[in-house]
This record gives sequence, C-alpha cells and structure tokens, in this order.
Amino acid sequence: MLDSVNFEIKEKAKHVAENVVRPLASEHDRKQEYPWKVKEALAESGLLKTWIPKEYGGNGLGSLNLCLVVEELSRACGGVGVMFAVNALGSYPIILGGREEQKQKWLPEIANGERLISFALSEKMAGSNASDLKTLISKNDDEYVINGDKKWNTNGGVAHYYSVFGVTNPSQVGKPSAISAVVVEKGTDGFELGKEEDKMGIRCVPVRELYFRDCAVPKWNLLGDSEGKGFKIAMETLDHARPGVAAQALGCAQGAFEYASRFASRRRQFGQPIQNHQSIGFLLADMSTRIEAARQLVYESARMIDAADKDPSLKAKANKMAAQGKLFATDTAMWVTTEAVQIFGGYGFMKDYPVEKYMRDAKITQIYEGTNQIQRLVVSRHVAREATSLKFLDSFIPTIDQWIPEELLNEVKK
Ligand code: CAA
Repeated sequence: MLDSVNFEIKEKAKHVAENVVRPLASEHDRKQEYPWKVKEALAESGLLKTWIPKEYGGNGLGSLNLCLVVEELSRACGGVGVMFAVNALGSYPIILGGREEQKQKWLPEIANGERLISFALSEKMAGSNASDLKTLISKNDDEYVINGDKKWNTNGGVAHYYSVFGVTNPSQVGKPSAISAVVVEKGTDGFELGKEEDKMGIRCVPVRELYFRDCAVPKWNLLGDSEGKGFKIAMETLDHARPGVAAQALGCAQGAFEYASRFASRRRQFGQPIQNHQSIGFLLADMSTRIEAARQLVYESARMIDAADKDPSLKAKANKMAAQGKLFATDTAMWVTTEAVQIFGGYGFMKDYPVEKYMRDAKITQIYEGTNQIQRLVVSRHVAREATSLKFLDSFIPTIDQWIPEELLNEVKK
C-alpha cells in the first residue's frame, strides 16, 4: 500500500519519464550520451531532493520514495534510472558518515541538482571483496594525498564530487579497519578521468576509470571524525542503495512487460492476437505475477531501510531485506526482459524495436552494487545466524545416530 505522498512523487516521476525520458531513450542509448536534458528536468521537478534530509536542502522522503522515482524512470529507460540513483549512492556516504559541516557544505548542491556525485569503491582487483583496496590515502600535515586507480565509476566525468574509498592504515591492508573515505572534487590536481567503458546497457550514463596520482585534498574532506570508518560507511551506503538498484530492475521489468503485453495484443498469428494463444497468455500472466511479487519485496525492503534509520535495532533486518530485494527483483528483471524479447520474436532481437534495450539494461542490475552471488552470501549469513533461534524445533527433528564400530570410532575422533 502506498500513501498520498508516495503517489504524488510517483506521478511526478512518471511525468518526467513519459515526457522527457522515453522519447530520448533510444537516441541516448545509441550514442552513449549523457542525458543532460533529463538531468535538467529532474532538477527542475525537485526529484533530486527526494532522499536528501530536509536539514540539507532535500525533501527527506527516504528510501521508499527514492525507489518509486527510480522505478518510474526505469520503466521508460533503465539507464536514466541509474543516472538518477547513482547520486543517492554517491551522497549516502556523506549522509550516513559525514560530519555536520560536511553535510551542510555538500548536500544542498546535490539536492538542487547543481552538482552530481559518484561512489568510488571498486578497483580492478577489489570487486566483491570490497575491503581489499589498494588505493592509498596518506596523511600530510593538513592534507590527505590519494594514490591509486578506481574501476567502474558510474557518473565518472559528469560528477563534480567523488566519494573515494582507500587505505589510510597500510599495516591493516586487506582489512576493513584499514579503510577511510574522502570526498574529492573534479578538477583537483592529480585526479584524472581514465578509460570510458563501452557498455552493453545503461549506455546513457558514463562508467569510467579514475586515476589518482599525488592528489591532495584538505584533511577536512575525510568523512567522519576519524580514520578507519570507511568500510562501515561503504556497507551502510550499499544497504541504502540496493533497494534503488532493485527498483531500477523492477522498472525495467515493468517497462518491458508493458511493451510485450501491448505487442501481444496487436500481433496476429494463426488468425488471432498472439495473447490469445495459451503459451503467450500464460507467459504474460507469469511475468505480471513475478513483477508484482518483486514490487512488494522491493517496497518492503525500502520501508525497512527507512525504519532502521529511525530504529538502529532494525539494521540487521534491513541489511538482509535490501539484499533479498535486490536479488529477487534483478533476477526477475532478467527473466522478464528476456521473455519480452521472446514475445516480440525476431522483431524483439532488432534495435528498431524497444525491448532488446530493456534486456541489456537489466543485465547490469544482477552485477553491480554487489553481484547477486554476494547478495546470496549476505542472506545466507543471516539465515545461518537466525537458525540458532530455531533451537525449539530440535525436539521435532529426530537425531541421526549411526552405530560405528569402536575401532573406527577412535579413528573418526582423531
Ligand atoms: N553495515 C554496517 N557494518 C557492516 C555491514 C553493514 N551492512 N556489513 C559489514 N559490516 C561491518 C561488520 O560488522 C564488520 O565490522 P567489524 O570488523 O567491526 O566486526 C566489518 O564490516 C567486516 O564485515 P564482514 O566480515 O561481513 O566483511 P566481508 O569482508 O566478509 O565482506 C561483503 C562483506 C558483504 C562480502 C562485502 O564485502 C560486500 O558487500 N561486497 C560487495 C561490494 C559491492 O557491493 N560493491 C559494489 C560497488 S558499487 C557499484 O557497483 C558501482 C556503481 O557505480 C553502481
């Protein structure tokens, strides 16, 4: 169930999606061009304020409303969904880990769309194992000096600010305690934009390598009040951002489904619309059902993130649900978008029809902000922990006893 504020923001996002995003989606995809016109429309509509707290120029509408915006945008273009959501990913380290004066300085400019931000965690050799960073952040008298390379930086080049994670304690390298986060401004000496990736999907948003060579930033830019907090900030950021990826996937699934459903009502074979053939009708029914199941889980995981912001005792539950929502919605999107191409048949495989783009855009959602293998790891750790509270079931599960000859028993015990 959504409330009136939720519906209002959803309608606002839908207006931008249908009037600005959808008409330009194919062109930006083909040219791999950043959609500046869309960014302006998002800033004008105030949607970039959605997740930023009111005290810092935002609307303080939290994770659920952020997801509703991302879903509506992604329904028209999955690339625009992430082009919007990545500003939340980049700014959460400041919201969750920044000092008061840092929030006052950086967040209002992001909320009003004057500045864009990105999240620089991954490296060529540190993807799923996010604590294995090799970017060094060393301290001078009043500066931090960054040396290293970053990979997969979404918004790279267009963003003005970069939340950069690296090692401030080399004796702990490879461990979470070694990591800190600093904010780096585009144009800082020693900060170079590297290779721009040529991508399968989400082509309207740039993904770059970032190079730091003796790049000095004021000591003031360290997020938080001491070093070593970076890994926790990164993990909490990802908990907040994963429902956004899930919403992107949900929007892609919904958008592809709508095209497939409409096409199936128009396309005639064997004397009738193909939706009347049971194989297609039932497929559309399954697509619709799985999308709705994903939607409920995504909204509920976002609500749980919002609840945990007010009540820290819910953080573990929120961490688990954010992973579950991301896992389920993105796998659903990959299945739905692939079947949408199937329903279009040969036309679906062609670039002058809109559905193949949904399939390409959906793929990355199973990979970034934690692969779905990592989401399963997160969920499985929770499941294992929760099993300890199920001890009361033991008396209902017969124990498995096997008689073992004494000679072997001694060997087994060794
Ligand atoms: N919130 C707060 N703290 C957390 C946490 C969370 N969600 N998860 C872990 N921590 C803390 C733990 O409590 C622990 O703290 P202590 O040392 O004080 O005990 C510490 O962090 C280490 O935790 P783990 O032992 O669980 O860490 P791990 O090394 O096993 O890693 C992981 C856990 C879940 C696998 C993590 O590395 C991970 O999420 N990997 C995936 C990284 C990822 O999502 N990268 C995507 C980058 S963004 C992107 O895709 C780019 C884009 O542009 C869109």
